[in-house]
Amino acid sequence: MCGIVGYVGPRQAQEVVVEGLRRLEYRGYDSAGVALVVPSEGGGGRIAEAKKAGKLANLEKVLAEDLLPASHTGIGHTRWATHGAPNDVNAHPHLGHERRVALVHNGIIENFAELRSRLEADDHVLVSETDTEVVAHLVELQVESGVDLTTAMQRVCQVLEGAFTLVAVDAHDPDRVVAARRNSPLVVGVGEGEHFLGSDVAAFIEHTREALELGQDQVVVITRDGVQITDFEGRPAEGRRYHVDWDLSAAEKDGHDWFMRKEIFEQPKAVADSLLGRRSQEGLLQLDEMRLADDEIRDISKIIIIAAGTSFYAGMVAKYAIEHWTRIPVEVELSSEFRYRDPILDYSTLVVAISQSGETADTLQAIRHARTQRSKVLAICNTNGSTIPRESDAVIYTHAGPEIGVASTKGFLTQLVACYLLALYMAQVKGTRYGDEIDEVMSQLEAIPAQIESVLAGAQQVYDLAEDHVGTRSVLFLGRHAGYPVALEGALKLKEIAYLHAEGFAAGELKHGPIALVEEGLPVLCVVPPRGRDQLHEKMISGIQEVRARGARTICLAEHGDTKIEPYADVLIRLPRVPVLLQPLVATVPLQLFACELATLLGHDVDQPRNLAKSVTVE
Ligand code: AGP
Repeated sequence: MCGIVGYVGPRQAQEVVVEGLRRLEYRGYDSAGVALVVPSEGGGGRIAEAKKAGKLANLEKVLAEDLLPASHTGIGHTRWATHGAPNDVNAHPHLGHERRVALVHNGIIENFAELRSRLEADDHVLVSETDTEVVAHLVELQVESGVDLTTAMQRVCQVLEGAFTLVAVDAHDPDRVVAARRNSPLVVGVGEGEHFLGSDVAAFIEHTREALELGQDQVVVITRDGVQITDFEGRPAEGRRYHVDWDLSAAEKDGHDWFMRKEIFEQPKAVADSLLGRRSQEGLLQLDEMRLADDEIRDISKIIIIAAGTSFYAGMVAKYAIEHWTRIPVEVELSSEFRYRDPILDYSTLVVAISQSGETADTLQAIRHARTQRSKVLAICNTNGSTIPRESDAVIYTHAGPEIGVASTKGFLTQLVACYLLALYMAQVKGTRYGDEIDEVMSQLEAIPAQIESVLAGAQQVYDLAEDHVGTRSVLFLGRHAGYPVALEGALKLKEIAYLHAEGFAAGELKHGPIALVEEGLPVLCVVPPRGRDQLHEKMISGIQEVRARGARTICLAEHGDTKIEPYADVLIRLPRVPVLLQPLVATVPLQLFACELATLLGHDVDQPRNLAKSVTVE
């Protein structure tokens, strides 16, 4: 939530900051703003700022009409509102009492009410409803007392509670930007004679691919020539340098109307990349970032998967695969619920945290809780250097590349791949599957990218179907076994971007209530299991018959060659033939295309749906 940018260097700061905000806008788009330090001849300097409610385009319009003065030091923000409505006044940056310090913030300052009352008692006038403005005043009080901006930031961070990334500039100190982080993302971009700050590397990827990851509770100062890191007490600290393995083209739409559509079509490559290098020369599975010894894996007696939203559905698929291949019991839990049910955890429990962004606050808090109970934590994540993998004992990185559309697509498919790899790896170590069985599944996985291509080649059929449903207000999705999470994911995609009432159900649950929703003409998308599992297939057909008998229009996703389904399908979308456990990798794709096309036809902003943000860094 919220995108943050900072810059010091020879370029015009306004351009660099606004460009960075454009790349981070997927993180929040309620309002946007920039602040620049404008040096004055006799020293001193002043802050020039502009901010505007709504999308970044609104701010750009303001800036086009009234360009800010030239400056080489600036900060910017794109907001997902927590405290106060998304209007011009609450937009960041916020200024201190004397307009000397400008500051942007991501996160929540939990003790802001108390801090605000103290400031107000001292006659500070706070114009916004935000927690951020309080921090701007506090930092400014410190610099006014004579310390530099770095010390001011360190001191203020010591009194703040909650989660925050803060980035500030001081009008009297035009050559530096100072930032701090606690439980909220921030990376440094290392250039030549210039440095950048961003909520993620997309903010500066067109200028540099060299990045520096910061630890928890650290303050960082960037100048043209260097980066200096300390903890909140001012003790020197170090960041971890890394090279970003994707470039600007990955963060561009590449001729597509939406990032989401581009990302759907990137899935064959994303899946293939996530499988690359996972087999040793001897043919054994290897997971480089696993960091858990074989003995530790053999000791695991229970797995708890924690995740949110789409990642949670990947976890549901993982349960089927892990239990089937390793015989280890698996629980799947929403990360927002996990801590509050007092889960039973010990050293023999492996907690698997699935998070595309690696920053989801609920998931982060859940893994911290697990670690206090001596459980090992393995993260499945797409974002190198993010907090969740950093705080985990082991990590499997997915290699989807940057996912910018708020609705996750390639993130989901690559999470599935990582879950299958984890399951197979554990089966290898524990000896619950023979090597040739593991090889066979790996070969099936390696065939998936081409099979996804074939689904994508049929996109037009799905687009036509979406066109037929422009007037629809409600859609149901049915699945069984690994098709059940696919049904949930299909429904979530429609809710997120088409704003339709959409529900996914396990087909067997229909007659326990949901069937009452079925009325004449209601579209029901049915994920039909492959025929290898005849019982499953037959049961699914019974469910389809039940809704059809009550007037539903059945849209069935079934594998090529499945003729039994034909009499029960009003519309038939063919899927490649894959084993039941791997079917989510192909069955999800038409549902993504359906949601993307329908939302487009309805005139919605597919990449930036209302009320949502890509990275949910508040609980
Ligand atoms: C997916 O389309 C959603 N935008 C959302 O449900 C997302 O999957 C969820 O917020 C979890 O995010 P994470 O994977 O970054 O932790």
